[in-house]
Amino acid sequence: MKISLGADHGAYELKEAIRDHLEKQGVEYIDFGCFSKESVDYPKYAFLAANAVAKGECDFGIICCTTGLGVSMAANKVKGVRAAVCTSEMLAQMTRRHNNANVICMGQNVVSTELALKMVDIFLTTEFEGGRHERRVNLLTDIENGVELKV
Ligand code: RB5
Repeated sequence: MKISLGADHGAYELKEAIRDHLEKQGVEYIDFGCFSKESVDYPKYAFLAANAVAKGECDFGIICCTTGLGVSMAANKVKGVRAAVCTSEMLAQMTRRHNNANVICMGQNVVSTELALKMVDIFLTTEFEGGRHERRVNLLTDIENGVELKV
């Protein structure tokens, strides 16, 4: 398994803690930055990390900013990416089980480092349930492809 990591200055420390955590577990990753607390624009880092997932270079992405919101908006604009902002262990689990999320987004000012690392572990080890959820996830792809869904 290979993980793409990205963050802006607002979550540089959280990204570093997640990087250390992956390192300790022997999980492979690509760190797309940022690499200091100097102010940067979050869409660029979110794009790089999300695009690595979309291209199949990485299996999952972990992308952080101050709130998790901006990076999730940017990541979800990359075709093939399903990014979810998570603030609890339950959300980290459910977005894998039901949404087949391939990117988790978190906010450094929203969650503790301890919770973030727990969510990372849950996100990376929970399987997609498929079945009726597969049909719904396929509808997300339809939207992405410009299909006008009807009820
Ligand atoms: C940066 O100040 C902040 O706007 C960014 O980290 C993020 O929270 C945006 O959604």
